[in-house]
Amino acid sequence: MAARTLKTAGITGVGMSFPEKRLTNADLEKMVETNDAWIVERTGIRERRICEKGVPASHHGIQAARQALEHAGKTPDDVDLIIVPTVTPDMLFPPTACVIQDQLGCSNAWAFDMEAACSGFVFAMQNARAQIESGFAKCVLVIGTEVMSSIVDWTDRNTCILFGDGAGAVVLESIEEERGGIIDSRLHVDGVGVKHLHMLAGGSLNPPSHETVDKGMHSIYQEGMEVYKYAVRGMANITAEIVEQNGFSGQDVDLFVPHQANIRIIDAAQRRVGLQDSQVVKTIDRFGNTTAASIPTALRVAYEEGRLKEGSLVVLCAFGAGFTWGSVLLRWTAS
Ligand code: UT7
Repeated sequence: MAARTLKTAGITGVGMSFPEKRLTNADLEKMVETNDAWIVERTGIRERRICEKGVPASHHGIQAARQALEHAGKTPDDVDLIIVPTVTPDMLFPPTACVIQDQLGCSNAWAFDMEAACSGFVFAMQNARAQIESGFAKCVLVIGTEVMSSIVDWTDRNTCILFGDGAGAVVLESIEEERGGIIDSRLHVDGVGVKHLHMLAGGSLNPPSHETVDKGMHSIYQEGMEVYKYAVRGMANITAEIVEQNGFSGQDVDLFVPHQANIRIIDAAQRRVGLQDSQVVKTIDRFGNTTAASIPTALRVAYEEGRLKEGSLVVLCAFGAGFTWGSVLLRWTAS
């Protein structure tokens, strides 16, 4: 566990924003060789939200951030740092965080994007915590926002059924340690995963060309089963580790908010820590895998359903490309 100070980082606001348009499994049946029964049984997904063409990641990121700020009782001027985890930035550069900083009117904030794929939100939470505990920031917006539909190959049934668009945001503030906030956070990487899940073109390795477009290299490539094996192990282990090594057991956990990639991965982590359904947030049926947005949006859903109370013990956990994985243990401070 990292060294503690008297001040820590606590969530004081949470927000989300999704496009209106729903893409159901029945819709996908008309696009690729698939069926509702297979998708529901293998993934737990029934529908996902999809942006209209041309809507950038910043759009829903800004809406989610506005709701989080309102919940926290903060104005854009109060924010001194914006971190945007995303794999679908508006542009490769400048950071989408700068677009959001400008359009939200956070004139006192510095801002950057960070990319840790589906683990982006927990990686950003640890970064925000470090900035707050070191005294460099007092009020941080972490905004996970994705337009996954812009990098999906809509002819590949292995991947096009999985992903959705949307954004979730939290406000993290410097709070007295006794009040709650982040107790612990742990991050891991194993670069063995690079070959199993990636988007090959668009960066410096394969700059855009007619050839990269013709070969479909600007879309998600995933070896599903291989990723699945690592994900089950990574999510279950990291959840058990952060709970047990902080002196808690499954019974102490009020809410487990995992990354929503596959209902079977979530169920495996849930079983490993011995959690009941009432302790776990599952939104994958409605939204699919929204990558860096899945945890903050699940948090907002849980908040709206009245499942988060002041002091609730919450575990966040994610696994994604890289491989990257991590968890955050916190006491809820945004009632
Ligand atoms: O969020 C970031 C990290 N990513 C993940 O955590 C994803 C991890 N992986 C998974 O969730 C699962 O591996 C998938 C949901 C992607 C796939 O499920 P699976 O049970 O591993 O299926 P599979 O890839 O082993 O495919 C089983 C069969 C294959 O047919 P054959 O070769 O056995 O005849 C596939 O071609 O299912 C077939 N299949 C489909 N059938 C109907 C694959 N996609 C589909 C589909 N509809 N959409």
